[in-house]
Amino acid sequence: MNQELKDFLQQQKDIIEDKLPQHIQKLQAPQSLKDAMIYSLQAGGKRIRPVLLLATLRSFGKSLEYGIDIACAIEMIHTYSLIHDDLPAMDDDDLRRGKPTNHKVFGEAVAILAGDALLTYSFELIASLQTSPPHIQLLLIRELAKAAGPEGMVGGQVADLEGENKTLELEDLAYIHHHKTGDLLAFSVIAGAILAGAEVEEVENLRKFARELGLLFQIKDDILDVEGDVQTIGKPVGSDDGNNKSTYVSLLGIEEAKTLLTMHTLKAKEYLYGVNMDHAFLDSLTEYIVHRDH
Ligand code: IPE
Ligand code: IPE
Ligand code: MG
Ligand code: MG
Ligand code: MG
Repeated sequence: MNQELKDFLQQQKDIIEDKLPQHIQKLQAPQSLKDAMIYSLQAGGKRIRPVLLLATLRSFGKSLEYGIDIACAIEMIHTYSLIHDDLPAMDDDDLRRGKPTNHKVFGEAVAILAGDALLTYSFELIASLQTSPPHIQLLLIRELAKAAGPEGMVGGQVADLEGENKTLELEDLAYIHHHKTGDLLAFSVIAGAILAGAEVEEVENLRKFARELGLLFQIKDDILDVEGDVQTIGKPVGSDDGNNKSTYVSLLGIEEAKTLLTMHTLKAKEYLYGVNMDHAFLDSLTEYIVHRDH
């Protein structure tokens, strides 16, 4: 990754990290709730979804300020999904982003409510934007609700839980990966294109790229659950195995899972280069996702 791109990513990450707690701090809500929301938002994380949105905007040559609040909204939904994913009723994990999980610090009830609050507030944030016309806001809200809801992330999470203690077919595993992880990641790219005013056809071309990117992100997550280092990934290693999840690694073995990762990377890039935009940022981010160690 060249220096210009590295600087861009770091700068955007810093802006988002400043903005996230500010949004919550100003709310008129119980301080204990705000503390729990801010705790998980500030616990670190790669911020890959906000950065993907801003990099897409930039790739279409558009000003980044239009994307900051939507980027924050996506990170809030992602963070809510992690708080709930770690609960005892779901993956029952104690470590997230290198810190004790939300329910370990605030208790299960507040953790559930902090997740609920992050989810609902993210939509309030998008609906309150002053920088985009109402028809763009509505389109973003619809796309985000679809990506995060029953046909998206929540549906994927249910299928993931129902798949525990079973050996799934690859097709069922692809469904889980596409929805529990892929859809929100894909939305980050699609939102950037919508905000940039891209033609419908360009948005649809980019959607194919984003779909591959989302899938390969979760394949890599499954590989890191086996090969990662707990200090580096900031969450437990072997969580999937402990919960008897089917993953690409458990179904295919580590080598075959890596081959599949490469295959989907090539496919993603093929789609990316079919879109009329500056490809450098999204190409680099794809490489980053494939080669990340956390
Ligand atoms: C982890 O997401 C959960 C998945 C959807 C696989 P990330 O790997 O983006 O987690 P953070 O935000 O960097 O902590
Ligand atoms: C989580 O998938 C997906 C969502 C949170 C929506 P995982 O359960 O594999 O994520 P990690 O490994 O706990 O981060
Ligand atoms: Mg899970
Ligand atoms: Mg988990
Ligand atoms: Mg995982």
